[in-house]
Amino acid sequence: MGTDIRTDVLVVGGGIIGLAVAWRTAQRGLSVTVLDPDPGHGANQVAAGMLAPVTELQYGEEPLLRLGIASNTRYADFVAELTEASGGLSTGYRRCGTLAVALDADDRAELREVHAFQQRLGLTTEWLTGRECRRLEPMLAPDVRGGTLVAEDHQVDGRRLGAALVAACERAGVTLHRSRAATLAVTGDRAAGAVAEDGTRIAAGRTVLAAGSWSGELPGLPPEARLPVRPVKGQVLRLRMETVQGPLPMPFLSRNVRAVVRGCHIYVVPRENGELVLGATSEEQGFDTTVTAGGVYELLRDARELLPGITELPLAETNAGLRPGTPDNAPLLGPTALPDLIAATGHYRNGVLLTPVTGDAIAELLTTGSLPPEAAPFTPERFAAHRPVLETSR
Ligand code: GLY
Repeated sequence: MGTDIRTDVLVVGGGIIGLAVAWRTAQRGLSVTVLDPDPGHGANQVAAGMLAPVTELQYGEEPLLRLGIASNTRYADFVAELTEASGGLSTGYRRCGTLAVALDADDRAELREVHAFQQRLGLTTEWLTGRECRRLEPMLAPDVRGGTLVAEDHQVDGRRLGAALVAACERAGVTLHRSRAATLAVTGDRAAGAVAEDGTRIAAGRTVLAAGSWSGELPGLPPEARLPVRPVKGQVLRLRMETVQGPLPMPFLSRNVRAVVRGCHIYVVPRENGELVLGATSEEQGFDTTVTAGGVYELLRDARELLPGITELPLAETNAGLRPGTPDNAPLLGPTALPDLIAATGHYRNGVLLTPVTGDAIAELLTTGSLPPEAAPFTPERFAAHRPVLETSR
């Protein structure tokens, strides 16, 4: 193809994953172009930003837990470096911890099982009675039966994280090409860049596919390289917290709270700027992002049981985003069946949490030819009928 932009690495998709890959790769000396109509405005605009690998642990997902802990552990340094590299933009990172609570006896039994599983894995979690939970968070309903405190599960503001990554990329010399990918370019059975919808032809040595829920849809992908990614809709509400007045005025909520409410799962994330994020539904509806009365009702119904005072707060925003789900709920990181096409997608519920570790892992792959050990279990090869070509470095 004729070429308008020539780059070492093209990142298709400028959500926080694509931007972190671009920033980290540019820091290592490669020329990088990101192709996205609106960089920094992916699923991170809806996400609550909980950094909770231990609280959100699911049975059978121990490798994902290790990846999540690796990312959580480097978050403080990552955001400090990002704030400096972006010229001083804050990411709203808060080391607040997470309390997971149960409402009725069945919910308590479920949480007890999870706590036992966490302990078998040697994770640091503390079981609290209902009274102890309310001592930490006095706005919790009297019905709360108990819970676990995970001191190292924190939060970040996904929107501010996106803005900081855009600025850091620009300052690191990344080209942000504001258009959508019309088609992947393939030359001699290798990925060779993309053609943008505005007609720009971008020739690249390596192409990173970081298009979130759209990663399986890119035109031009050969069938053997198609990634098993599907959208999983999540509706999320944003409220404004007010300080609870009394002899000692206190914040409405001090830390992340997850809850099992009569078998349904919700979470509430209080930001330092007074925003309270309440999520989330989990719906297999394709690419639909309609906010529905039923979705909002279910979230508020469960939140009211958990935190009765929530009905007094102003409702500022309703929104729906698409999580890029995969068959095993884990991300796709590394070489695909098409040489020179690398996956950085499929982060499902953990995109914000896994941003630092993904940026580092893909930048390492692009510059050394190898993935670091914590990322190695997540290559797309695990879903392939045959081995992909693993050669990615030149
Ligand atoms: N990690 C929270 C969610 O996906 O809703």
